Amino acid sequence: MTSARSQGPLGELVSALGAYVEHQRELGVLGFPRSGVTRVKPTSVEPTPGNLFVSPGLETTRSLEELRTHIGDCRRCKLAPHRTHLVFGVGNPRARLVFVGEAPGRDEDLKGEPFVGRAGQLLTEIITKGMKLRREDVYIANVIKCRPPENRNPEPDEVESCEPFLLRQLELIGPEVIVALGKFAVQTLLRVKTPITQLRGRWYDYHGIKLMPTFHPAYLLRNPGDKRLVWQDIQKVMAELGIGAGRP
Ligand code: URA
Repeated sequence: MTSARSQGPLGELVSALGAYVEHQRELGVLGFPRSGVTRVKPTSVEPTPGNLFVSPGLETTRSLEELRTHIGDCRRCKLAPHRTHLVFGVGNPRARLVFVGEAPGRDEDLKGEPFVGRAGQLLTEIITKGMKLRREDVYIANVIKCRPPENRNPEPDEVESCEPFLLRQLELIGPEVIVALGKFAVQTLLRVKTPITQLRGRWYDYHGIKLMPTFHPAYLLRNPGDKRLVWQDIQKVMAELGIGAGRP
C-alpha cells in the first residue's frame, strides 16, 4: 500500500485533510460552511451524529418537546448560574422560516421567551407588518439559550455547548430559510469573521438550509436609517418563500 508520504506533499495534504475532517465529524461537526448559495436538500429528523461529548443522546430526540426535555435544567456551561430562564425558542414547530438571534437579553431571561424586549418588538413588526405573517407562524430562537451576564458577547465554549441544540432544533423544524439576525449570529453560524455589512443580503448555506444574514433589530433601533436594507433582505426571503410583500 502506498503511504501519503510516498505520494509527496499533495498526498500528505490530502491525508491530513481527511484526518481533520474525520476528527471534526467525531466532534459532531456536520458540515463546513461554504460561501454563495447552494441548495438545500430537505432537512430530516433522522438521527445525525450529534456532539456526543456535549450531549449524549441528543440525536435521538424526535420533537421539540423531547429536545427541551433532553436539555433539561442545563448546567453544561458557565452561563447557567446567571440565568433566570433558559430561553429555548418559540413559534411554529413546522415553520418554513426561522429567525436566529444572538442570546437572550434581560427581558427574555425574565420571561423565558426570545425577542420580547424593544428589539423583539421591532422584530415582531418586521414579521407582522412587513411580512404579513403572525409571530406564531415563524420560529424564533437564539444561538445561545441563556443570557450572558451584562449582555456580553457569548464566549466560544458557551457557543460550543449550546449550538448543537440549535442545530437539532433546526433539524426537527426543517425550515426552508433561516434569517440570522446580526453580526454575532451570522459570524457564529457561518464560522466567518466577515463584517455583517458584507454578509447581509446574500444567501448562504447552513447545514443544507438557506440562510440570509441581516442586521439585528437592536442595531436598527440605534440606526433606523438601515431599516431599508433589512427590508431589502426580508423581501428576498419573502420571494424565496413565495409570500406576498407588505411594508413594515
Ligand atoms: N437579542 C437577541 O439576539 N435575542 C433575543 O432573544 C433578544 C435580544
